[in-house]
Amino acid sequence: MFSLLTNRFLRTQHGLLGTLLAKQIDIDVIVLGGGAAGLFCASVAGKRGRSVAVLERNGVVGEKIRISGGGRCNFTNAFADHGNFLSHNPDFCRSALSRFTPKDFIRLVERYGIPYHEKKLGQLFCDDSSQPIIDMLAKECGKSGVDIRTGVEIASVRKNDAFVVETSAGTRRAKSLVIATGGLSIPKLGATDLGYRIARQFGLNLTTPKPGLVPLTIASSGDGRKKVGDLAGISVDAQIECNGASFRENILFTHRGISGPAALQISSYWERGAEISVDLMPGRSLMKEIAPFSSRSLLNALDVCFPRRFAEWWLDEEEAGRSVRSIAPGRMRELEEGLHTWKLVPSGTEGFGKAEVTVGGVDTRELSSKSMESRKVPGLYFIGEVVDVTGWLGGYNFQWAWSSGYCAGMSV
Ligand code: FDA
Repeated sequence: MFSLLTNRFLRTQHGLLGTLLAKQIDIDVIVLGGGAAGLFCASVAGKRGRSVAVLERNGVVGEKIRISGGGRCNFTNAFADHGNFLSHNPDFCRSALSRFTPKDFIRLVERYGIPYHEKKLGQLFCDDSSQPIIDMLAKECGKSGVDIRTGVEIASVRKNDAFVVETSAGTRRAKSLVIATGGLSIPKLGATDLGYRIARQFGLNLTTPKPGLVPLTIASSGDGRKKVGDLAGISVDAQIECNGASFRENILFTHRGISGPAALQISSYWERGAEISVDLMPGRSLMKEIAPFSSRSLLNALDVCFPRRFAEWWLDEEEAGRSVRSIAPGRMRELEEGLHTWKLVPSGTEGFGKAEVTVGGVDTRELSSKSMESRKVPGLYFIGEVVDVTGWLGGYNFQWAWSSGYCAGMSV
């Protein structure tokens, strides 16, 4: 009976245990947020003999890990380096990424015998589901005596001789406070702005958070004639560019605009009002590819390059029915040019509700790149997505969570 109650109270943090917890407890480290960065940091600190508590708002830890990578967690990228990250200081993440590398995390995954595979471009995914990664982090925490508390609401944080955290389960005090509350993406999975509020409270600067790795909304094509939504469901290989960044992957047209890996990647670089340039035939030539089909209609010839529905949408109706050989060379060059330099101006993004990450966050100038500790407030650390370091699509964001979590865990 008692253990049943204990289990329930451990989960809910109310009742008898809640009352006991209301007593002030002195420990070394409190970690706010039981996601990727928080759990990993806690396990590293615990192994160093620190007494650590993780306080998580959700009923379970690692919710984003669970849904990540389509349910199979793309837990790192074998080739991750600082060039794969956005930040106002692109060099900030160098130190952490070199102190705890993708290889280090892969070794841990292998030690736990978790089956994984490389999907493409160094992206490492679990074979079956993300759960073994969450279990591994929980076990690592368990081995080092980390006290994980779920279902805990944080009411306030203050600092006197120690950090004092008022929670729905009582007051906790610790020498170090690690903020690992993540970004704003997917609020229904527990995302809050707590980390940013704590940063502001302690006088730390923020770079404005915005949705990243997010579908872009586009009403009509550059010439304003055609609705991009009519292409919904079509996927094409493309080179996509914006604000000096460029990616070659698939674009998926949606009812509201564009998604798919190339669009998600470029969305992190997109600023309101900016134009996106799309090469729909990267490294290829329309004229060369349709030359053998000069007697066909332009529409039928374009079948060799694009899905039929796309070709119908792209071509002018009258021109589509004309034979390839009847199209003047100058017009053909225009068509070729148009396919290589399609300009799109998104009206916006699908917002934090659909974003995989948050771009921006705690200004890296406020933090030590070696330890993630605040320069202004000794003992206060920020790790993971709450920091202004955002990875590309492909396992980079988890690697940042592990690397930054490791650095803080080794310092607290
Ligand atoms: P994370 O969000 O993981 O953890 C923060 C924790 O803090 C959460 O558990 C949250 O509930 C808790 N919290 C927030 N506010 C709180 C409060 N007020 N009180 C207490 N706790 C609070 N990346 C990648 O590399 N590979 C991938 O495959 C994917 N796939 C993917 C899919 C989808 C759909 C999304 C939304 C995101 C991804 N990502 C990803 C991104 C990746 O999930 C993300 O970058 C990391 O989880 C960030 O780790 P953090 O620990 O910083 O935040």
